[in-house]
Amino acid sequence: MKVLFATSEFTDFAKAGGLGDVSAGLPRALRYRDIDVRVLLPAYPEVIAKASDITIVAHLPGRAGIEPCCIGQTFTHDGLPLFLVLEPSLYQRIGSPYAAPDGHDWPDNDVRFARLSLAAAEIAAGTAGMNWAPDLLHVNDWPGGMAPAYLRWQGARIPTLLTIHNIAYQGLYHRDRMQTLAIPESAFDVNGVEFHDRISFLKAGLFYADHVCTVSPTYAHEITTEALGGGLHGLTSGIAAEGRLSGIVNGIDETWDPSRDPHLPHHFEADDLSGKQSNADLVRTGLCLRHSDGPLFGVVSRLVHQKGLDIVAETARDIVYEGGQIAILGLGDPDTEHMLSRLARSHRDDIGLLIGFNESMARRIVAASDFCLMPSRFEPCGLTQMQAQRYGTLPIAHRTGGLADTIQDGETGFLFSELSGEGLLAACRRAFDAYDDPEVLSEMRQAAMARSFLWSGAAEEYARLYANLIGQCLPQAVPVTRRRTRRATDELATAA
Ligand code: ADP
Ligand code: GLC
Repeated sequence: MKVLFATSEFTDFAKAGGLGDVSAGLPRALRYRDIDVRVLLPAYPEVIAKASDITIVAHLPGRAGIEPCCIGQTFTHDGLPLFLVLEPSLYQRIGSPYAAPDGHDWPDNDVRFARLSLAAAEIAAGTAGMNWAPDLLHVNDWPGGMAPAYLRWQGARIPTLLTIHNIAYQGLYHRDRMQTLAIPESAFDVNGVEFHDRISFLKAGLFYADHVCTVSPTYAHEITTEALGGGLHGLTSGIAAEGRLSGIVNGIDETWDPSRDPHLPHHFEADDLSGKQSNADLVRTGLCLRHSDGPLFGVVSRLVHQKGLDIVAETARDIVYEGGQIAILGLGDPDTEHMLSRLARSHRDDIGLLIGFNESMARRIVAASDFCLMPSRFEPCGLTQMQAQRYGTLPIAHRTGGLADTIQDGETGFLFSELSGEGLLAACRRAFDAYDDPEVLSEMRQAAMARSFLWSGAAEEYARLYANLIGQCLPQAVPVTRRRTRRATDELATAA
């Protein structure tokens, strides 16, 4: 089975959040199952700097306002094949995959990710002039959303899978970009890419992909509801009703192992947690917190509304009052950063804050903490709570999405349903009680550390899904939107 996995993040080189980890972890696990997965990603500066021996394997022409590009092939240190979309005018910039260092999105993100999507579609359709073409195209989130659409407009019938990691990010653009993005006029329709009079890359993916997957079963249900469907619940409910929506929980990679994580000053195992205590001492010293025998609550997060940092702030005073301390590492919205800075300043001895994106610090804080706070408003999967459990750190989390699916309430962590300061505080009080009872604490830590969360489980489910899609889709002669597709194909040719 040959699969092209298109993504905008890949942790070995460029990561903004969990998508980078998934893109690095899942394809590797799939290769263990003998699936020939190749990852397609933009050649950001970090990729060019770290990748070795890039060989040009294709030259793709431009289309409408989408620049031509080259496809370079390289391999990760452990042999995973990567295809890089090389176009310096689009990707050679200092910043995150999506934004400039000042936090503003790159103004041409529509063309940048249309280029990624179009490259994916051309390789998948076998029109890129390469000596490899996949049996299935797997795209991720809005940056890959246009790929199934370009394929459909080209009349290609290779099966496509869209994984939604977060339906709140949709890639919305003004309708006057239609021609630039080589979108046929007829596709600007409720049955197409249109969403409230704008072009939606994610909607395109949802509408044109053969199958849609999210990163946990609970989130797969939640995106069909008005509350969490991001305005797309009508479409997602229809897809679910047709049996084309599934949820597969992510894994975490094997380096999240407290007995050998090179980022940790002190290693530890389930039956000897003294190293965990030493890490906590170091984190306290590093953040200038006073020595304490009370519990340490960790937060490692993107600082965005989704993650409920305002709820952490609301509860922080009570946590400190009851003898806890809080270590926070995050990067994101300036307003949230300021709010947390004020909080840390008003509790200098007990609340430590680091603003930044730092893998080592993230791992140290997760390893050092007794509990980790995740009052996310929604959480498609969440990796931090799984990483925390592996390190004997009990998550305290809102009962939503992947948090509900990966934390066993009262056994490996604490879940709360009422999303408010009181809801979080009540769960923290349960955590304080557990902390005060060494037997309960030890039992819960052991149970949490015994969970593996390895990628192999998810890889098996994806492999089964791929096989079904390849088996089901190829013989299918008539796509639901056949007439529109014909017309769209003609118009695409005109636009080009
Ligand atoms: P999301 O993708 O929504 O940000 P996840 O929990 O799925 O949330 O994944 C977040 C990933 O990013 C985890 O691997 C976490 O350790 C990492 N991470 C988040 N914030 C930081 C940070 N400030 N520094 C380093 N790593 C971070
Ligand atoms: C998104 C989600 C997060 C998920 C990650 C990887 O960023 O917010 O919950 O774990 O993608 O799938």
